[in-house]
Amino acid sequence: MSDRYAVFGNPVAHSKSPLIHSIFAQQSGQNMSYEAILAPLDGFAAAVQAFICSGGRGANVTVPFKEEAFRLATRLSERAAQAEAVNTLVLNGTEIAGDNTDGAGLVSDIQGNLGFSMAGKRILLMGAGGAARGVILPILAASPANLTIANRTREKVEALRAHFSGIEASSYAALTGRQFNLVINATSSGLSGDLPPLPAGIFADSALAYDMMYGRETPFMSFAKQQGASVADGLGMLVEQAAEAFFIWRGVRPRTAPVIAQLRG
Ligand code: ATR
Repeated sequence: MSDRYAVFGNPVAHSKSPLIHSIFAQQSGQNMSYEAILAPLDGFAAAVQAFICSGGRGANVTVPFKEEAFRLATRLSERAAQAEAVNTLVLNGTEIAGDNTDGAGLVSDIQGNLGFSMAGKRILLMGAGGAARGVILPILAASPANLTIANRTREKVEALRAHFSGIEASSYAALTGRQFNLVINATSSGLSGDLPPLPAGIFADSALAYDMMYGRETPFMSFAKQQGASVADGLGMLVEQAAEAFFIWRGVRPRTAPVIAQLRG
């Protein structure tokens, strides 16, 4: 019997993870299966336990269960502990090891696939929810000149600043007159078709605008294009975070470029 893996979410039918992992498995000759499991909103822990009992070896976790997975884990990687969210579980008997590969996926996509080195750059991260929190440490590890985090609600960004050393907190209004080499949208504003209140002139020459959403052009991406920035969506991050999870489970690094190309096609 092949080793079982799954992604847990609600909703989860739209997830591209089963396709991505099946291509990785095929490519690297790994004998494994990967399915999407819809967990009830109040039944995530029970769904994971049932999966363990049926031989599950590992799982990805998506919206809205990443914080619950963090609490469920019996052991945490440093990056998951800092993010207070888990997107990857390694299941081994009674042990549930939690990791978070989102930030590594973002950094691999920007630096590896897009060829944009973060070292020495001025970086603006928009948003102070779970998505932003998960990528702060890996961005800092890439040695930017500075990392500024902007959020509508002041208290949330102040809480992040108190937790992570080496970041600066800002309101959107206070960004006026400043310029950044890389602006990352980690807000959920694209879901409602909104643009975070960014001032014009925020992009430095040759700046990159990166939206962690994928599947459509968000108002942030349109704005960035108008302002002359290069623009990328989060599809590469999705594939890279999956590759990092695959590596944790199987010890093999899959090739991501053909998978990204296939998904774009
Ligand atoms: P996620 O897990 O995706 O990060 P979240 O924890 O609900 O989701 O956080 C959503 C983030 O998007 C928050 O930072 C939110 O800003 P507030 O803290 O001020 O609510 C941000 N956000 C959502 N819609 C936005 C908009 N239209 N403009 C700017 N920020 C927005």
